[in-house]
Amino acid sequence: MNSHKQILLSMFNELQGEYLSGQQIADQLGCSRTAVWKHIESLREDGYEIEAIRNKGYRIINRPNSVKEYDIATGLDTSKIGQNCFYFETVASTQKIAHELAQKGEPDGTLVLADQQQSGRGRMDRSWFSPKGTGIWMSLILRPKLLPSQTPQLTLLTAVAVAQAIEEVTGLTPSIKWPNDVLINGKKCTGILTELQAESDQVRYLIIGVGINVNQVKEDFPEELRHLATSLKMISEQEISRSRLVQEILKRFERLYDLYLNQGFKPIKLLWESYSNTLGTTINAKTMHGTIQGKAMGLTDEGVLILEDFNGNQHKIYSADIS
Ligand code: BTN
Repeated sequence: MNSHKQILLSMFNELQGEYLSGQQIADQLGCSRTAVWKHIESLREDGYEIEAIRNKGYRIINRPNSVKEYDIATGLDTSKIGQNCFYFETVASTQKIAHELAQKGEPDGTLVLADQQQSGRGRMDRSWFSPKGTGIWMSLILRPKLLPSQTPQLTLLTAVAVAQAIEEVTGLTPSIKWPNDVLINGKKCTGILTELQAESDQVRYLIIGVGINVNQVKEDFPEELRHLATSLKMISEQEISRSRLVQEILKRFERLYDLYLNQGFKPIKLLWESYSNTLGTTINAKTMHGTIQGKAMGLTDEGVLILEDFNGNQHKIYSADIS
């Protein structure tokens, strides 16, 4: 059924608002006119508004802003990333599901998406606010041949992919706060959480979780988040297609991932630096061993932040909260 819906949606996409006759659909799907009607009804149940006119056919006049498997698959321009996709209406956390699927052997590039998370996980053991229908809550399973110490580079790469995709889809100008918060106008719209399963010298798999505030309005955020968080809609003043943004992230991610696997971290580092709002500024880095204040000098070739304190001593920051 899902693949039929996907073919049907691709046909509608190609026609760009023109009518598609029942016979054309029946021929393409290799099914009866009654089956065509059932597929149309099923799309309507999913929120598609479809006009049906005798002797003309069917035409989509409105689409739901959903991120179901076939919304993502229709027109997805990648060869691997996101081609294997699992969608859930409500989950505790897409990270948890992705770990379970990875352990069952799902391949590199598998995507897990949810419309809502009830226990969304953030960095540093925090929770991640993930209300229904307005954001992108997704986790990618990756199986690169890397050392565990190299994996932070993939988190930085993901932040670049998300920033590029937001730029492309919304026209907004995002920046990245080390290591991987994507901000717009100084407020956080995206968080990234990387978790890994590894032996001492080899990554078994990695789960990269991405949470994006897309179409929330201010009142949707709990009071305590309102001064820190924003959504793409709040800044751009337009409703953003979540599936279009997911597709763009997957496409950008695949390009950068290929570049990284072929050429290493150097080109990714340059791109990351071009989005950074941290480099060159004075920051507080709250690490597990205390807080260091100083100037953010740059990234090492491994993706570690170099901080120079006021005595001129340089510190390598692997993980910290930056303010
Ligand atoms: C952060 O604290 O900045 C990282 C937030 C990561 C949230 C995403 S939403 C999809 C995935 N599932 C989770 O439970 N967390 C990540």
